[in-house]
Amino acid sequence: MLSLSKDMETGVEKIDTQHRELINRINSLLEAGEKSASKEETQKTIDYLGEYIVKHFGDEEEIQIKSNYPQYAEHKKLHTYYIDEFAKFKNEFAEKGNSMEFTMKLNNSLINWIVKHIKGNDVEFGKFYKAQAR
Ligand SMILES: [Fe+2]
Repeated sequence: MLSLSKDMETGVEKIDTQHRELINRINSLLEAGEKSASKEETQKTIDYLGEYIVKHFGDEEEIQIKSNYPQYAEHKKLHTYYIDEFAKFKNEFAEKGNSMEFTMKLNNSLINWIVKHIKGNDVEFGKFYKAQAR
């Protein structure tokens, strides 16, 4: 199971709180894969996570706009990329259902992309944000 490690903390309270929720929802999906949940149940966890990805990215972008983050446009592009990527997984699941291969692909994508994004891009924004707040 994933958790929010120290090097994933941005220091922006709202963002860190939302990252924890995001990780909870990723964990629900990982769990569904581990216990080979039904298609219906897995579908629910995918939708539940998908909704939150969109909400969280939107909220994070709003904070970036409000603080005049110079790398906002770049950051938003990354979010848009991943929303599309996740939508592809959603469609693939709706079409083909559960498979070992699908679960592994989705899990790897989530773990790699999101963790890397948080540790890199979000933490970088956090540094900017904290410097502004001084
Ligand atoms: Fe982000």
